[in-house]
Amino acid sequence: MGTTQAAKTGKTAIAKGGGGKEEASSGMLDIKDSRTGKPYSVSIMEPGTEGDTAIRAMDLRQIKVEADEFGLMTYDPAFMNTASCKSAITFIDGDKGILRYRGYPIEQLADQATFLEVAWLLRHGELPNQKDYDQWVHDITFHTYVHENIKEFMRGFRYDAHPMSMLTATVAALSSFYPEAKNIQDPEQRNISIVRLIAKVPTLAAFIFRHAKGLPFIYPDNDLSFVENFLSMVARMSEPKYEANPIFAKALEVLFILHADHEQNCSTSAVRAVGSSQVDPFSAVAAGIAALYGPLHGGANEAVLRMIKEIGDPKKVPAFIDEVKGGKGSRLMGFGHRVYKSYDPRAKIVKKLAYDVFEQVGMDKDLEIALKLEEAALNDDYFVSRKLYPNVDFYTGLIYRSMAFPADYFTVLFAVARTSGWLAQWEEMLNDKEQKIARPRQIYVGPKERPYKSPLVNKFPRSRK
Ligand code: CMC
Repeated sequence: MGTTQAAKTGKTAIAKGGGGKEEASSGMLDIKDSRTGKPYSVSIMEPGTEGDTAIRAMDLRQIKVEADEFGLMTYDPAFMNTASCKSAITFIDGDKGILRYRGYPIEQLADQATFLEVAWLLRHGELPNQKDYDQWVHDITFHTYVHENIKEFMRGFRYDAHPMSMLTATVAALSSFYPEAKNIQDPEQRNISIVRLIAKVPTLAAFIFRHAKGLPFIYPDNDLSFVENFLSMVARMSEPKYEANPIFAKALEVLFILHADHEQNCSTSAVRAVGSSQVDPFSAVAAGIAALYGPLHGGANEAVLRMIKEIGDPKKVPAFIDEVKGGKGSRLMGFGHRVYKSYDPRAKIVKKLAYDVFEQVGMDKDLEIALKLEEAALNDDYFVSRKLYPNVDFYTGLIYRSMAFPADYFTVLFAVARTSGWLAQWEEMLNDKEQKIARPRQIYVGPKERPYKSPLVNKFPRSRK
C-alpha cells in the first residue's frame, strides 16, 4: 500500500503495522521534515468502530536527520493524546457524555443488569446466557472465603490505617497465597485468578471495614447475592440472618455497575502496565488499587465529602467557588474529567440515586451544599468555559455516607467494583499479540557526560575510625 504510493510521489512511505507487518490503512498523512526537506507519508490506521483514528508512533521512528540517530519520537506527558491499546471493552464519547460497556449504554445496564452480569459482560464481550450466569454466580459465591492467615495479616494494621493502604497491601499479599497464579498463559489459572479476585476483594474490603471499627470479621454468606453478602459482611451484628435494606442494596448494585470499568483511566493503565511485565494478576490489581487511591482519581469521592464538610454551610458556597476560581490551591472536587467535556453520564444516574437514598434516610445539609455547589458551578463562566461538569465522584460520597460508610472507605467501594474492569482489561491485554512490556521512552534533559570528581572528604562519617 505505502510502497506504490511512495513510488508515485517520491515520498518515503512509512506504513508498518504491529510487528512490522503491513496493515490496512484509511489514508496517508504527508509530513515534511523541515530539517532535511525530506517528505514522508505515514499510514493512518483503519478507524475503530466509533471512528477513532491514529497513526503508529513507531512509524515516525524512521524520520531522522542522521542515519545513525534514534529517530523521531512522540512526546505526550500524561498520555493526553496517545492510544496505548486497541480495546473492545468500554466506549466513552467525552463530548457527548456517552459511556457504553461492550456496546450497551450505561443507563440501560444500571437500570436493568446485575453487577455480576456486567462483570461477565466486561470479560466475555457478550451478555451471559442463564447457564453461564448461574455457573458464574456459583463460582464467585464459592470463592469468597479467604485464608485464615489473611485475618492475622490484617490485624497487623493499626486501627486507623487508611482502608486503601490496607486493601492495596492485602490484595498484594493474596498473591503469596496463590503462587500458581503467576502462570498467566494458562487459561485455567487465569480464570481461577479472575474468579478469586472478584470474589475475595469484597471479603477483604468488608474485613477492612470491621477492623477499623474493632468488630469481629463476618464470614461470607453463600445464600446471599453478591451485594447483599457484601453488606452482610460489613454490617451484620448478632442477627442469625442478615437482611439488607433493599434501597441500599439496589443503590450499591447500581454504583458497582457504574464503577465497573472506564477504559484506559489511571488505575486501569497501571494494571495494564504492571501486568505487561507478566506478573500475577493479584500484584497487577494491587497496583491498580494504589493508583485508584489518589485524590485525582478514585480518592475524589472522599475528597468531595471533606470539601463539603469544610464548606459547612450552604451560605458559604459562593465564597468557596470564588476561592477555587482564585486558584489558591482548592479545586472543586468531583468536578472535571480528562475525557468528559460534558456531564458525566454516570453522575446523572448517581444524582438520581442520591435522591432515592435520601428519601429513605432523610435529606441533609451536605446534599444541600452539594446541590448549591453544582448550581453555582454550572452557572459560572470559569467552569463552563473549561467544560468542568460533575463527575461520578460528586454525589457518590454522599450516598455512601448516608449508608454509614466512613469517608476514607469510599474508594474501597470503588475498588470492589473496578476489580472486574481491571481484570477484563488485563486479560484483553494478555490476549493482544501486539502488547509487550510497557516501557515508555523519554527525552533526556540531564547533564552530558562528565568525569566523576567527588567533593566529599569523608565518605563513611558514621563508621568507627
Ligand atoms: N476545579 C477547578 N478547576 C479545575 C478543576 C476542578 N475540579 N478541574 C480542572 N480545573 C481547571 C484547571 O485548573 C485548568 O485550568 P487552567 O486551564 O486555567 O489552568 C483546567 O481546568 C484544565 O484542568 P486540567 O488539570 O488540565 O485537566 P485534567 O484533564 O488534567 O484533569 C481532573 C482532570 C479530573 C484530574 C481534574 O478535573 C480534577 O482535578 N478534578 C477534581 C478531582 C476529581 O474530581 N477527580 C475525579 C475524576 S473522575 C473519577 C476518576 O477518574 O476516578
